[in-house]
Amino acid sequence: MGELPFKTWEYEEQTKTKHSVFADYIDKWIKIVGKYNKLNFIDGFGGIGGYKDKEGKLFYGSPVLVCQAIERIALKNSRDINVIIVDESKEHLENIQKILDYSKIKIKPFMVDKDFDETINNVISTVKNIAPTFVFIDPFGFKIKMETLKKIMSVEKSEILLNFMFTRINQFLSAPRVENVYNDLFGGNGWQIFKTLKGQAREKGIIEHYREQLKTFSKFVYYYKLEFPEKRKTYYYLFHLSNYYMGCSIMKSSFAKYNLGRVEYRGFRSGQLELFELADIKQSEIIELLFKKYLGKEVSFKSLLEDNIDSTVYLESQFRDTLKCLEAKNKIKIRRIPPFTPKGRQRKAIEENDIIQFKDESDRA
Ligand SMILES: C[S@@+](CC[C@H](N)C(=O)[O-])C[C@H]1O[C@@H](n2cnc3c(N)ncnc32)[C@H](O)[C@@H]1O
Repeated sequence: MGELPFKTWEYEEQTKTKHSVFADYIDKWIKIVGKYNKLNFIDGFGGIGGYKDKEGKLFYGSPVLVCQAIERIALKNSRDINVIIVDESKEHLENIQKILDYSKIKIKPFMVDKDFDETINNVISTVKNIAPTFVFIDPFGFKIKMETLKKIMSVEKSEILLNFMFTRINQFLSAPRVENVYNDLFGGNGWQIFKTLKGQAREKGIIEHYREQLKTFSKFVYYYKLEFPEKRKTYYYLFHLSNYYMGCSIMKSSFAKYNLGRVEYRGFRSGQLELFELADIKQSEIIELLFKKYLGKEVSFKSLLEDNIDSTVYLESQFRDTLKCLEAKNKIKIRRIPPFTPKGRQRKAIEENDIIQFKDESDRA
């Protein structure tokens, strides 16, 4: 590749995963949520827009990936999306514009060379009737305020994908000068108790505490761990916040697509068990979970997903497949609403409103 008319950063493996998941999800978000709504996409920490890997291959950053997705989708469907790219560096935003020009992308994002927190708070407090907004928060550090995340989530149908820089946050946990920054980050001083812990207990404590705080204002919160390649050491966590189970479910499947079909950290089991063995284990785990929770009860498929999507590692497709399998073995009954397809055939698929009846042991075959 010859000399490019813009700057690039070096591409790391985990950035590739982050971008693949991000691009896959954004594509679906534009198609699904954008079908009936005007949308806002806000990239809070835009970066410079481009990367090169060790072989010199060019990759795009989040602002360019979004513009590309909008253009691609707009060829077939009309969508109304406002793109705002924030980066405190004017130079970075100019570089993004150079990449958009170079790639002949016609989308014209609104660029803001200011601090993210100030900008987003301005937007939320001054614009009335804000459209569903996706905010991507991808800083190098950790100056993110819980209060600001709460404000964003108060906008109807908003979502956040946030890069929680665990390594750095963990590194400075005991530094006195970050105390106020951490109180803002965690929305209180509950993080202090993890200073005395070590290793896994400390990591899990910090992450779960952060999630609990987010759960006080976001209905669904799921996190994904990304490691330094070949080091088996946590780099950062991607947190996804959404007020609809469907957002959480789709993000899980987008992540699984780039993580060998699963959302959880690839622990020791992945090296020893084949994929089909893992699928069997998952299915029996799901059966155990469902009967423990719903034995003798009935529940709509939508409620079942709402109850379990952000508290388990299972994907919507795995719940669906397990239920179908249980139905075939006459272990559960599914009342489909409506029972027939528009063409008058008996419905086989499982949809949101269908009622799943978990029989008592005595009723089961
Ligand atoms: C990790 S990079 C973003 C990468 C980008 N999301 C991508 O996918 O390529 C972080 C960016 O945040 C910018 N930044 C740092 N502090 C900021 C702040 N307070 N407000 C807005 N941008 C900031 C930096 O200039 C840098 O370009």
